[in-house]
Amino acid sequence: MNVLKELGIEAVNAGGSSGSDWWSRPSDAGVLDSINPATGEVMASVNLCSAADYERLVQETTNAFQQWRMVPAPKRGELVRLVGEALREKKDVLGTLVAMEVGKIKAEGDGEVQEMIDMADFAVGQSRMLYGQTMHSERPHHRMYEQWHPLGPIGVITAFNFPVAVWAWNAFVAAIAGDPVVWKPSPKASLCAVAVQHICNAVMKRHGYAGIFSLFITNTAKLAETMVRDQRLPLISFTGSVPVGRHVAEVVAQRLGRTLLELSGNNAIIVDESADLDLAVRAIVFGAVGTAGQRCTTTRRVFIHESRATEAVNKLIAAYTQVKIGNPLDTKVLMGPLIDHAAVEAYRSALGEVKKEGGEILCGGRVLPGPGYFVEPTIVRAQNRWNVVQRETFAPILYVMTFRTIEEAIAMQNDVPQGLSSAIFTNDLRRSERFLSAAGSDCGIANVNIGTSGAEIGGAFGGEKTTGGGREAGSDAWKAYMRRQTNTINWGTDLPLAQGITFDV
Ligand code: UN1
Repeated sequence: MNVLKELGIEAVNAGGSSGSDWWSRPSDAGVLDSINPATGEVMASVNLCSAADYERLVQETTNAFQQWRMVPAPKRGELVRLVGEALREKKDVLGTLVAMEVGKIKAEGDGEVQEMIDMADFAVGQSRMLYGQTMHSERPHHRMYEQWHPLGPIGVITAFNFPVAVWAWNAFVAAIAGDPVVWKPSPKASLCAVAVQHICNAVMKRHGYAGIFSLFITNTAKLAETMVRDQRLPLISFTGSVPVGRHVAEVVAQRLGRTLLELSGNNAIIVDESADLDLAVRAIVFGAVGTAGQRCTTTRRVFIHESRATEAVNKLIAAYTQVKIGNPLDTKVLMGPLIDHAAVEAYRSALGEVKKEGGEILCGGRVLPGPGYFVEPTIVRAQNRWNVVQRETFAPILYVMTFRTIEEAIAMQNDVPQGLSSAIFTNDLRRSERFLSAAGSDCGIANVNIGTSGAEIGGAFGGEKTTGGGREAGSDAWKAYMRRQTNTINWGTDLPLAQGITFDV
């Protein structure tokens, strides 16, 4: 397959023939098939890591940390800059592989690689800005300040839906912070991970470094659990479901490690009576249909002011019927397949529940005949309190509801367990400010006149409540990857104690 060749992936068992140059040595752990969700076909097979492979890899990473933490941060930034350059060269082909392996359309696959590049640029700048504060000591001839040191090797567990960008959010910031990274990608997106690993390997090898970026491919809960329990990894960054995230949090808390959690969202857009409906409809369609509803930031609920509901719903239905579904590499296609059969079943069962509740399917609602895991984007008239609306179904199902007052809309938008992303479409200053106030949206992300998905990397990304509270990517998210040290220096000839205590011997 040309895409794989261009990405230097010979190390896969493409089409069943065993290559000589394997990615990781074949072991009794066996191989993992990478499946194209648009066709259901096996694209290639990747060697899985055994328990011994994992041990070797973490040893290498731990050793690499001893050196890497003493490399000046701007120099670490320079290496991340070079990885970013290599990604620029491979953007087109890596974007294609993302589209092929997880089924998002090519434009979104390319966008994801661009997000990695943006993240590399950001991390390079951050490498010169790992600022600590200085404090005025209460004691004469004393100085206080704080500095940020590397934390240690970091475990990064990513989901299938952003198979490369979410790793970059973590890995590039961790790398400039002085932390080597062990990456456990989703077993549904192993080829993308192998491709990124190859890109990193080439850059790091050229500059004489090893063990800074490592890849650990497993599809067993047992080995993943080994990683989560590993005392040598002081931080586990996890993206995925709430139940698994809760387990990761418990296990890591038990060993007093740190977690950075990015779990489910149940994101809503409020459309008030003053909203620009054309803008709102475009944002809702991108947010609900983009990535086939498989982003953690996907728009799942819409609250429309009752005076605009008919008009808005008609515009939404008209837009939905224009959405071309099909091969993600076809430039006219706006929605590719779901990731696998289980995702199709989750879509089917959510709609079954909707019908039981008495919900009305306004458009879509069908599973399309194979090959591939295609469904129709769907709009449902629903009620916020229904169980099916309260949980995240990773599929393009949009629940539409109406409201009378902005207070009521904000209360409903907050009345779910999750707290990732939210938005309001309004031209009314008072209502947008209310939405953004402390009594407004309870989410980590709250937008005005743009949708819930497609965040820029410059902001801190993450959410509250069962979304897990972690923050990744921009702003001061880098602090999660470092340890803070407070230093007090006495340059005088006396030893005054704080709080005025005398303790003379
Ligand atoms: C995710 O779905 O896990 O804001 C991340 C967005 C993207 C990231 C989504 N930049 O939609």
